[in-house]
Amino acid sequence: MDALFEPLTLGDLELPNRILMAPLTRGRSEESHVPNDLQIDYYAQRAGAGLIISEATGVHPKGMGWYRAPGIWSNEMVAAWKPVTEAVHARGGRVFLQLWHMGRVVLPTYIGGEAPLAPSAVTADGEGFVPVEGQVELGARPYVEPKAMDQADIDEAVAAYGRGAANARDAGFDGVEIHAANGYLIDQFLRSGTNRRTDDYGGSAKNRARFLREVTDAVLAELPPGRVGVRISPTSSFNDMSDEAPAEVAAEVGRVAEQAKLAYVHLIEPVEEGFMPMPDEPVAGDLRSSYSGPILQNGAFDAETGAKHVADKAADAIVFGRPFIANPDLAYRIREGKPLAEPNMELAYVGGANGYSDYPPYDEQAELPR
Ligand SMILES: Cc1cc2nc3c(=O)[nH]c(=O)nc-3n(C[C@H](O)[C@H](O)[C@H](O)COP(=O)(O)O)c2cc1C
Repeated sequence: MDALFEPLTLGDLELPNRILMAPLTRGRSEESHVPNDLQIDYYAQRAGAGLIISEATGVHPKGMGWYRAPGIWSNEMVAAWKPVTEAVHARGGRVFLQLWHMGRVVLPTYIGGEAPLAPSAVTADGEGFVPVEGQVELGARPYVEPKAMDQADIDEAVAAYGRGAANARDAGFDGVEIHAANGYLIDQFLRSGTNRRTDDYGGSAKNRARFLREVTDAVLAELPPGRVGVRISPTSSFNDMSDEAPAEVAAEVGRVAEQAKLAYVHLIEPVEEGFMPMPDEPVAGDLRSSYSGPILQNGAFDAETGAKHVADKAADAIVFGRPFIANPDLAYRIREGKPLAEPNMELAYVGGANGYSDYPPYDEQAELPR
C-alpha cells in the first residue's frame, strides 16, 4: 500500500496521500440548492482524503436539474459553503469544488418550463428525476429536446463557470475541478454523438474542445492553474453519450490541460466491470501522450488495484467514489488494513443524515493519515 501514501504535489497543493475522494452527488442540500449543515459534517469527516473533490455543484440556474444538488452561483451559496471548507481545513484536509452545468439533461420543470441548453438539438435517451409535489418520492420524466446554444448562450455559460470559480475561491475552496465528464454540458460539446455543430465549436476534436478552452480561460481568470483540474470520461456511455474517436478527445483535452498548465487531469476509466462498463479501448495512454502533468484515475479501484496502478506509474493518484460513502476514514482503513464498510446505495442520492453523515469512522480516536 506504500505507493498510495507517497506525498504528491498536485499543482499548488501538497497532498499527504494519493487516496482521493471522487465527486459524489448526494442530494442533501436545500431545495433552493443552498448547502446546509449536513454538508459540514459529511465533508469534515472525509478530511483524511489526499484531496476531496466536492459533489457536482451548479454554476448557473439553467444548468441545474438535480433535486437538492448544491449550487455556487449566489452569495447565499458562497456563505453556506464557507463553514464546509472551514471544517475540512480545521481537520487538516483539502477540498476542490466541482463546477457543473448539466446541459441537455436538465428537465424543463427545473427551469421554468424552458428547453435545456446543449451544443446541438440532440435529445438524450433516458429519464431524469423530479420531485413529485407533496411527496418525498422522486418520479421519472423523459429528457426533452434541448435548444442548440447560440453564441449568447455560450458566452453566458462560459461566464458562469468563471463566476463559479471566483465564488468557490471566496467560499474557501482550495481549487476547482471543471466537470467535463459523464454527459454533462462540456462533455456534450467534446463528443461527436452530441455535438453536431458546423461552426467553430463543432467538427474536429479540436473544435469540439473550444468550449472547454473558453471555460478554462474563464476559470483561469479567477484562479491560478495550480488550483484547477478537469475531469473527463471519453469512453463512458452514461447519459446516452457516444463518440466516434474517444482517443482523440482524450488527447485533445490533454493538450488543453498542458497548454493551460492545469494541476491535473482526472480520467474516469474503470479497471473492472461492474458499476460502469469497461472501455473497449482505454484512452489513458492517449491522454498521457499530450499531457505531462498529474493524471488522477477513477473507476472501480480498490486498495490493491489502486496501489498497483500508482506503483506501476499508470496514474499519479487514485480517486475512490463509492468506497468513501460508507468509509469516511478510507485512507486510515487502507493504511491500517482495516475492513471496509458497505454503503447503503438506496440512500446514495436521497435522505438526510441517514446513509450520509452517520457512517462512523473505524476508530473515533485515530489520527488522520498525513
Ligand atoms: C452516488 C454517486 C454520485 C456521483 N456523483 C458524481 C458527481 O457529482 N460528479 C461526478 O463527476 N461523478 C459522480 N459520480 C461518479 C463517481 O465520481 C465515480 O466516477 C464512480 O462512482 C466510479 O468510481 P468508484 O468505482 O470508485 O465508485 C457519482 C457516483 C455515485 C455512485
